Amino acid sequence: MALFITFEGVEGSGKTTQIRRLARYLRRKKIPCIMTREPGGTPIGEKIRKILLDPGHRSLVPLSELFLYEAARAQHIREVIRPNVKKKGVILCDRFSDASVAYQGNGRRISLKRVEQMNLVATEGIRPDVTFLLDCPSNTGLKRALKRNQVLNQEKESRFEREKIQFHNRVRKGYLAIARKEPRRVKVIDTRMGEDQVFERIRKIVDERIGVKESRGQVK
Ligand code: TYD
Repeated sequence: MALFITFEGVEGSGKTTQIRRLARYLRRKKIPCIMTREPGGTPIGEKIRKILLDPGHRSLVPLSELFLYEAARAQHIREVIRPNVKKKGVILCDRFSDASVAYQGNGRRISLKRVEQMNLVATEGIRPDVTFLLDCPSNTGLKRALKRNQVLNQEKESRFEREKIQFHNRVRKGYLAIARKEPRRVKVIDTRMGEDQVFERIRKIVDERIGVKESRGQVK
């Protein structure tokens, strides 16, 4: 069985950089690894992603938003996650079902229970082994995300980056609540300590988990 790792956090928390670093590290150790993301990770999912992030879609109601994330997720589970969890190696996924709890549940105020039920349907019960919650104050992250958009010459921010700070504060609180409920799975890392330090913490935890799997003979 693969080690299934997800990365979560508020906007601009540096997930993507850390995922790439971890992928490079694992490949150097000759551990097979795949990188994927939600919403997306499949051709249909990437199309759904475009609908979701389009800043012109102001009239998208919270429930449609939730269904679209779950639709992309169901596709992703069948095409990417399920086939790969059965193999050896590591799956690195940029956001997963916790994002729906934090954004659609806490952020959009859809009942958490309902979001969890929908997650269960879409994921078919597949859960990450480890989740890194890259945490920082919402305004620090937002500033970083907006700067990144300027550097990348993306003139428009996404639908989420447009949301008020209160929304992002609720998302962050939602994530931290998940971490408190599931401390064994969810590892909170304060990103204010800097990119290298964040990576060191991630690397240590991953090494330990791989070690455990290796001793069971599950990872080459
Ligand atoms: P992402 O590509 O991770 O954006 P960023 O790199 O800017 O953090 O995620 C896209 C957006 O989708 C992000 O704003 C969070 C949101 N999202 C949800 O609201 N619910 C979900 O279930 C997922 C997976 C993402």
